[in-house]
Formats: sequence, C-alpha cells, structure tokens
Amino acid sequence: PPLHTLLNLDEIEAVAKTQVSKKCWAYYFSAGDDLISKYYNGSVFKSILLRPRVFVDCTSASTATTLLGHKLGTPLYVSPAAMARLAHPDGEAGIARGISRFGAMQLVSNNASQTPEQIVANASPDAVFGWQLYVQTTRSKSEAMLARINKLPNFKSIILTLDAPVPGKREHDEKSNLDSQIIVDSASNAKDDAEKKPGGGGVGQQLFWGTAADLTWDTTLPWLAKHTKLPIVLKGVQTHEDAYLAAKYARKYPGTVKAIILSNHGGRALDTAPPAVHTLLEIRKYCPEVFDSIEVWIDGGIRRGTDVVKALCLGAKAVGVGRAALWGLGAGGWKGVDRTFEILQGEIETCMKLLGVKEVSELGPRFINTRMVERD
Ligand code: FNR
Repeated sequence: PPLHTLLNLDEIEAVAKTQVSKKCWAYYFSAGDDLISKYYNGSVFKSILLRPRVFVDCTSASTATTLLGHKLGTPLYVSPAAMARLAHPDGEAGIARGISRFGAMQLVSNNASQTPEQIVANASPDAVFGWQLYVQTTRSKSEAMLARINKLPNFKSIILTLDAPVPGKREHDEKSNLDSQIIVDSASNAKDDAEKKPGGGGVGQQLFWGTAADLTWDTTLPWLAKHTKLPIVLKGVQTHEDAYLAAKYARKYPGTVKAIILSNHGGRALDTAPPAVHTLLEIRKYCPEVFDSIEVWIDGGIRRGTDVVKALCLGAKAVGVGRAALWGLGAGGWKGVDRTFEILQGEIETCMKLLGVKEVSELGPRFINTRMVERD
C-alpha cells in the first residue's frame, strides 16, 4: 500500500513485516526471555492519562527544543539500533535522510551496517548525530573508532551503552540463524573478522562478541574523556540510584557526562527490567535534582505522539524510537522513515494543541495523571 495511506506506527510495522526477511523481522522484533519488559514499555503509557486544559489559544504548537545545546526541530530522536541494512539497502544513511526535514537527532549504533563516514556523507551541516559505543575488550579498537568520530563534525555526542554488557536471551533471534555479509559489515565498525563468535546464538550474540563487560564509573569515564572531547550520554540507566551516580560522576569528571538515557534496551537485555517511565518516576521522587544537572532522555515502546508528550511531561528532555525507525525503513526505505516521523510529529502537535500547549517547555506534570502507575 502507498505510504500515505498508512496512518499509524502499527500499520507501518505490519507492512514492514511483509517486506523484510524472516531473519530481519526476528532480529528486530526479538527481546529478552518472555518479552515482559518490551510489553511494559508500550503498555505503561496507556496507564498515564492526560489532563487537557481548555479555552486556550492553540492555533499553533511548536515541537522545537534544545538538546545538549543544539537547536532541534523536535525532542523525538532515533535510538541507536544495529544493522539497518537488514531491513533495506538505504540503511542508516536512509534513516538520516528520512528524518532530515524534521530536525531530529540520530544516534548511530556501534554495530551500524554502514560506516559513520557513509552515514553523514549527505547530511546537512546542521544535522545532529551521536555515536553509540560498545566498548570493546580490545580497547584500541574503540579508541580508533573514537578518533574517526572526533573528525566528523556532525557527530555531537558519544552514547555509552551500559545496559547490555552481554546480550539478553533472545529466543526469536536465536531460532532464526543467519550467516550474512551484513553482520560482518556491522561488526566491522568495531572488530575484525578474526573476532567473530564461532557459529550460532543469533545475530545478537554475534554482534556482542568482543564487547567489554568490565566497565566502571572510575575507570571508563576518565579513559573515554582521554579519547574524545564530545559530551558523553550514558544509555541504559534503570534505577534512581544510578541516575544519582551519573549526576555525581558528571561533577567528579567535569566535561564528561551531560545526559543519561533511561532505557531497558527495548526489552532486549534483562527481561522484567523496568520501563523507562518507572525510572523517570523514581527520579522525580528520590533525586529530582538530577534533572537540574544532566539531561534525562528516555526510550522504549513509543508508538504514539501522546507517549512522547507524556514522557516530556514527566521531565524527559528527549524521547527515542528504536524499532519504529527500523520498521519505517523496512516498509519503504528512507521514505518509510519520513512517513513514520511525519505521523509521530503530527500526533505530537495534535496532542499539544488538544492539551492547550504551544511550546515543549510548557509541558509538565500538571498535564498528566500518573495515579494508575503509582498505585503501590
Ligand atoms: C537496539 N538497541 C540498541 N541499543 C544500543 O545502544 N546499541 C545497539 O546497537 C542497539 N541495537 C538494537 C537493535 C535493534 C534491532 C533494536 C530493536 C534495538 C536498543 C535501542 O537503542 C533502544 O533502546 C530500543 O530500541 C528502544 O525501544 P523501542 O523503541 O524499540 O521500543
């Protein structure tokens, strides 16, 4: 069906499923164990209700915002996700093209299926990218990668993923094995072929082969600061305790940590880990001062503009989509990504107008009711 007839993200995912290979579908769809965290990521937004105000001029609403000091058209961004070329030859560069007219930020995976140079080759000078890092056991490989990123002016941050030192047990992925050149290309951003995991375990296991599991606050942050001046974003924070520590270490090592991403990796790491919304609520309750010192971004389960607005009301500065961008790509290459963002952006604007809000900065807890998620 023509892309403009697809009206929501579920419809785009359904079309993508018919277009992509079985392997691609299994890899993107998969999550840890019983997919409980993946399920809650989506369902938690259904239990947060909106509190619209009326008799307010809402002729127009702007989604413009600022992230890490960069002016952007929207708080919506693309989460780092491996192997976009599995869905469509346009790959990660196609995602960049698809989001370009919305002024959205794109975070590129350590295991992207195109090189960072290829991905930014046709980007406009004001397009904002971040590079996601899985620190490799052979540190020199990550250092070489950082040196490449430091030379590409469109890359404005390093996203250090912490929630998956090992991949979760993803049974959909494991059941559907694949020996593909795309895996080799993806891993080549960080590794060489000699380091590939020998056979089996699904794409996740293959890609994680060589990832370091020995990262700590006091060893990794100074090491990273030695190899890049870019702001660091810690991805995969899942408790208020770690959010508090992130703010603390941001002070201890100035010029390093500027933001955290509350995320359970789309449910793909530890199953029954909390959805980002729970962590956001914990931070509000136990250490709200975190919001004053570092930016808090979230991802996981975003299907509707109202989901994005609810996260912003709870204090998130930016909201990421992982699978949604990949399904857009699968449904129609870069144009499918464009349609996906057109739908989400339209829904965000409609939501803001119906709430009686003109600017992102006006959004706050007074526009939502979280009673159903805070019962206990
Ligand atoms: C991911 N994610 C991810 N995260 C990361 O830091 N590095 C990576 O390489 C990947 N790879 C990856 C592949 C695929 C296929 C998916 C679906 C996800 C996690 C991603 O950044 C994000 O946290 C989740 O995708 C957000 O949840 P939704 O939007 O997919 O529900």
